Amino acid sequence: MEPTFKLSNIDDKASAYKEFISKFELFIESEKNAISVFANTSAALKEAFDFFWVGFYIVNKENLYLGPFQGNVACTNIKYGRGVCGTAWAKERTIIVDDVEKFPGHIACSSLSRSEIVIPVFHNGKIIAVLDIDSDKLEAFNDIDKIYLEQLTDIISNNIDI
Ligand code: SME
Repeated sequence: MEPTFKLSNIDDKASAYKEFISKFELFIESEKNAISVFANTSAALKEAFDFFWVGFYIVNKENLYLGPFQGNVACTNIKYGRGVCGTAWAKERTIIVDDVEKFPGHIACSSLSRSEIVIPVFHNGKIIAVLDIDSDKLEAFNDIDKIYLEQLTDIISNNIDI
């Protein structure tokens, strides 16, 4: 098995995500373990889109703790409702931040991070984790990222056994 997630063209975001998702669905269909799927999702997204930081924070009681990721070392613990990740968890929806300096309470794991998107991972109606992606450029994420990354977290959610 030698899967590669390099995409033919990442300038057209919608086509890139479509190509990514069709490869990804085939790749993870036989893997049920959540941590393994989170780990390979992070690696696949990093390879395909070369995101500055991409990874999962996992729900545990009133906190999110750092899960599998690709990128620089990061904050390990985020409280419910805190930062972009804790806010996406509390509000139960995807949050796009165009400029992290303008998001009150943003938790800066790296001073190079400029914009961010956080997508909740629902499983049986409850949030079990969030997918966090950071960019070193302002306004890197928009509704196209939201649509396809929510599709991706749904695929993950339907595939894993908790
Ligand atoms: N910026 C996030 C914290 C996680 S790091 O970006 C990897 C936040 O405000 O929740």
